[in-house]
This record gives sequence, C-alpha cells and structure tokens, in this order.
Amino acid sequence: MTDAALTVLGIETSCDETAAALVTGDRRILANEVLSQIEAHTPYGGVVPEVAARAHLAHLTPLIRRAMAVAGLAIGDLDGVAATGGPGLIGGVIVGTMTAKGLAAAAGLPFLAVNHLEGHALTVRLTHGIGFPYLLLLVSGGHCQLLIVEGVGRYRRLGTTIDDAVGEAFDKAAKLLELGYPGGPQLEKAAEGGDPGRFAFPRPMIGRPGCDFSFSGLKTAVKRAVDALPAGPLAAQDVADIAASFQSAVADSLVDRTARAIALFRAACPAGGPLVVAGGVAANRTLRARLAGAAGAAGLEFLAPPLGLCTDNAAMIAWAGLERLRRGETDGFDFAPRPRWPLDAAGGQDKRGP
Ligand code: KG4
Ligand code: ZN
Repeated sequence: MTDAALTVLGIETSCDETAAALVTGDRRILANEVLSQIEAHTPYGGVVPEVAARAHLAHLTPLIRRAMAVAGLAIGDLDGVAATGGPGLIGGVIVGTMTAKGLAAAAGLPFLAVNHLEGHALTVRLTHGIGFPYLLLLVSGGHCQLLIVEGVGRYRRLGTTIDDAVGEAFDKAAKLLELGYPGGPQLEKAAEGGDPGRFAFPRPMIGRPGCDFSFSGLKTAVKRAVDALPAGPLAAQDVADIAASFQSAVADSLVDRTARAIALFRAACPAGGPLVVAGGVAANRTLRARLAGAAGAAGLEFLAPPLGLCTDNAAMIAWAGLERLRRGETDGFDFAPRPRWPLDAAGGQDKRGP
C-alpha cells in the first residue's frame, strides 16, 4: 500500500469538543465531525472536567459511527486509529484513548497516541501540503508558543508564555466583559464595533529580548478598566471599545514576539520557510491579518489553516497520527494518557516516557 492510500480515523476528546474524523495520506478529509459541548458548560461559565468526560463518553461512539458513514467507510477500510493522548483534561483523554484502543484491538489495527499540540502544529501540512522547516506560532486555550518545526516530532521552542496562555487571556477578558463562554469568538465579535485606541492597555513583553509572552498584566488592566466604568450594566460601546483595545494589545504583543522569532528562524534555517499560525486563537481574523502583515514585512509567506481547522477538531489528530504511522511510529496498548505533554520534549523519544 502506498502512503497516499492510507486512511486513519482520528479522535479528539481533550477539552470540550468531542470530535471524530477520517483523513487520507493524499490529504483528503473524508469526514470531520465536531460536537461542541458549549451548552453543557455554559451554566458554569467554563469547562467542567467531569461534565466534559461524561459528555465525551455519551457522544463519542455515535460520532465515530457518523464520521464513518459520511466517509462511506467500514472499519476494515482503515489503516490506523489515532486519538489525542494528551495534553488535556484527563477524563476526556481517557475516554478517547480507550475508545481508540478498543477499536484498534478489535480490528487488528495500529493505535496512535497523538500529542494534541502536534495535531495543531502539523495541520498546515494537511491543509497546504508544505514541507519542513517552518516557524510556528501556536496559540490556543492552554498554550502560547513560538516553535521551529523541523520535522515530525522535531520542535525547537523559541518562546512560551510565562503566565497565561493567549486563549485563556481572551476567555478571562470576555468573562470580565460579561460576554460569556467561550470567550475568544465572542470577544472578537464584540470588538468589531469598538475603538482599539480608547484604552491604552499594556503591551506585555514588547521590546524585551527573547520570544516569551506574558498576558496576565493585560488581564488585570482589563479588570481595572471594567471596574472604572459607571456602576450598573455594562454599556455596549464600552464593551466594544475594551474588547477592541484588548485585541489590539494582544496583536501588538504577538507581532513583536513573532518578529523576534523570525530573526532567530532566519539564523537557524537560512533556506527559510513560511510563518504558520495554528490553534484556536488563530481563528481570530484581526490577529491573522496582523501576523500576515508581519510575515509580509519580513518577506515570509504566511499560512493559516481554515478557521474550522484552527479550533479543536479530529482531522488534525487523524493527520498527525497518519504522519506518525507512515514513519512506523505506532503506540502500544499500554500507552498512559498524559495530562501534561510538552511538545518540544515530546515529539519523539520522550513521548512514551512516564
Ligand atoms: O485550540 P483550541 O480550540 O483548544 C485548545 O487546545 O485550547 O483553542 C481554544 C481557545 C479558547 O481560549 C478560545 O477562546 C480561543 O481559542 N478562540 C479564540 C477565537 N476562537 C477560539 N480566541 C480569539 N478569537 C477567536 N476567534
Ligand atoms: Zn487545541
């Protein structure tokens, strides 16, 4: 069988999306089912791990059936079963990996435990078919990192957040603005009619050496701005202005850090490669536009997955599993789910450690 003919089932259950997808070695997405648990978590204003795990358990099997039906495939048509093995909420990861192991064992297929972050990191190879290396800005609910992607399992970290992840900052700012959960998309929407110049929020880390990020001061500044507003219900224009000012501060910070990373990337990889943005926050149009501008100014191509493949999905898990499968890197049924699993240490050798 050629690599192009490989078909892998992917399962994603590490947070509040239950997802199942089928992708092929020639980069076709045959099915990509995503079931959001937003309604289950909304009353709590955030993701409740226990609620998430139960919902994954209830929905995953029907969702896999649906993905198989959409693709018109039977289990015997598969070449491997991949599931997110971490990092993430452990209850959900257990549901996903146990389901994948069960399917793989029953059908005699290889099982692949995928690092969720590697799923985000390699998505652009599924969507755009690019080679290595590339510079990656990974921005999600739990992470904010700049990495040189040298190969499958080969990630060199240039910078990371010293406090909050950028998605977390969006979610917290949105909560302060009473925009509800999940915060990122709501805040982006609220910012549309806002004045990004009204509030002079701090631009964390700008001008500092290195490529690290910090967002907790920005969150505090948003809280102060909200507290200083007149008492009573928040006025829509104030919310819009704070949201736009926050987004603009985040964009300035990301662009500054990324510009520094571009210089390091150039030195490390003189032959160059594109700037890629991935992860849930990469769905933000303002940030995408600003990063595209930064890449353009540095003479780099800018690539971002389509919006639906930035936020959590199983196509990225199936694809990362497929990339590992064709390198012969499968996992044993003794794989233990990993609540923490750093990408730079993890891609390769370290991956199957405790
Ligand atoms: O990658 P992802 O779906 O899940 C994790 O792996 O964390 O990222 C989720 C994060 C959340 O913090 C969410 O608020 C943020 O991505 N997000 C956004 C947007 N869409 C999702 N942040 C800003 N603008 C958006 N449009
Ligand atoms: Zn994610």
